[in-house]
Amino acid sequence: MADDAPKILDLTPLNPKFREDPYAILGSLRSAHPVMRDDMAGAWFITRYEDVRRILTDLTLWRDPHRAEAAAVLSRRLVEQSGERQDGDHGMSILLMDDPDHARIRNPLAQALYKRVAKSRGDVEKIVDGVLDRLAGRETFDLMASFALPIPIDVIASILGVDHDRLPEFRDWSEGVIQGLNPLRTPDQTAHMERAGHALTEYMTAHLAERRANPKDDLVSDMAALQAAGAPLTDAEVITNLSALLVAGNLTTTDLIGNAVRIFLTNPEELTKLKSDPSLVAAAVEETLRFEPPVDITGRIASKDMEVGGCPIHATQSMSLSLRGANRDPDVFEHPDRFDITRKKTPHVAFGGGAHICIGAPLARLEAQVALSRLFARFPNLRLADPDAPPVWRTLPFFRGLERLEVRV
Ligand code: HEM
Repeated sequence: MADDAPKILDLTPLNPKFREDPYAILGSLRSAHPVMRDDMAGAWFITRYEDVRRILTDLTLWRDPHRAEAAAVLSRRLVEQSGERQDGDHGMSILLMDDPDHARIRNPLAQALYKRVAKSRGDVEKIVDGVLDRLAGRETFDLMASFALPIPIDVIASILGVDHDRLPEFRDWSEGVIQGLNPLRTPDQTAHMERAGHALTEYMTAHLAERRANPKDDLVSDMAALQAAGAPLTDAEVITNLSALLVAGNLTTTDLIGNAVRIFLTNPEELTKLKSDPSLVAAAVEETLRFEPPVDITGRIASKDMEVGGCPIHATQSMSLSLRGANRDPDVFEHPDRFDITRKKTPHVAFGGGAHICIGAPLARLEAQVALSRLFARFPNLRLADPDAPPVWRTLPFFRGLERLEVRV
């Protein structure tokens, strides 16, 4: 690797330059070192769309970090953080599993989740309207805290059938468990994460048992019914993966909504297009996912010796795929740095791809579409409270979202 190439940790918002403009750095990397080895992280970092797409959809590659070489520090970190369970189950969600276990668990879960999502539009609209009602009379507010944050957690709680009076605890657990994604968390954050993880598992265990005895109209009851009908899923697997929906889906969807609102408020001509043709909202969400994706990277592990962009990659080596880099590749997207909700093709990779493609994508899309439509309809003069203030990005590695977004109605 060339000495001037950045390290993977420089390619996170912990680096102020990357936080301010990741695209300049990723663009140079894509031109000069599209397949870059970082020995310290023990990973290849891949930025070209064509390479990223090919690797994502190669079903012979692995995801389980246990299969990576010992030098793959970044991948192995994920397993250290997932913790071991007392019942011998390693407690990993489908995100870090390979077939046959991945397909065995993902297929019934996806089937049940997609059915729920297909009939949840009314609930999502009600939740978004409720959040907007609470903003009545406010001149200015932080759009992240008051809008983008509550929506995804309330939606997933409603899909899982969490009692309304447990919502505050559920929110607290979600915030705690998310610290598992933060390699630089403080001792206090680690304690919160552990406490929240235990409480959530305990809650889901009791919730599953309760719904098995008294089924209701929710995803937990669906999973209990699938188990009863013979789906080969242990309780621990159901509990881990239902809890994972909470962790994987909250921050990401919050960031999608926050990023979308900021982009529209700073691109008034695109906002005018959307307002004059509200049916563009689905395209608007897709273009936001391409232009400012909430998740930086996903990973795969080489199951065999292979070649990517002329570089030899050996079996068991870990590959970090830059979804953000791929989404701005000029070989695929015309004027990639232009936010254009009427662009013809948006085959972005914000949700990854192949066997692991985000299981929550239909839900995230629905939430973002409803949130944007209802927000701009309710507040037609919505604008940035201080148009000259620079955006305040969070520093959590591998995610891109706003710490706060002060707006005026
Ligand atoms: C805008 C919001 C979201 C983004 C950008 C996002 C992004 C991603 C990405 C990049 C992956 C890895 C895919 C791969 O490796 O190929 C993933 C996987 C996953 N996501 Fe999402 N996600 C979002 C929302 C959600 C929601 C709402 C849920 C749950 C309801 C969810 C649950 C999951 C799960 C369980 C996986 C693992 C799937 C597997 O490995 O089979 N995500 N997501």
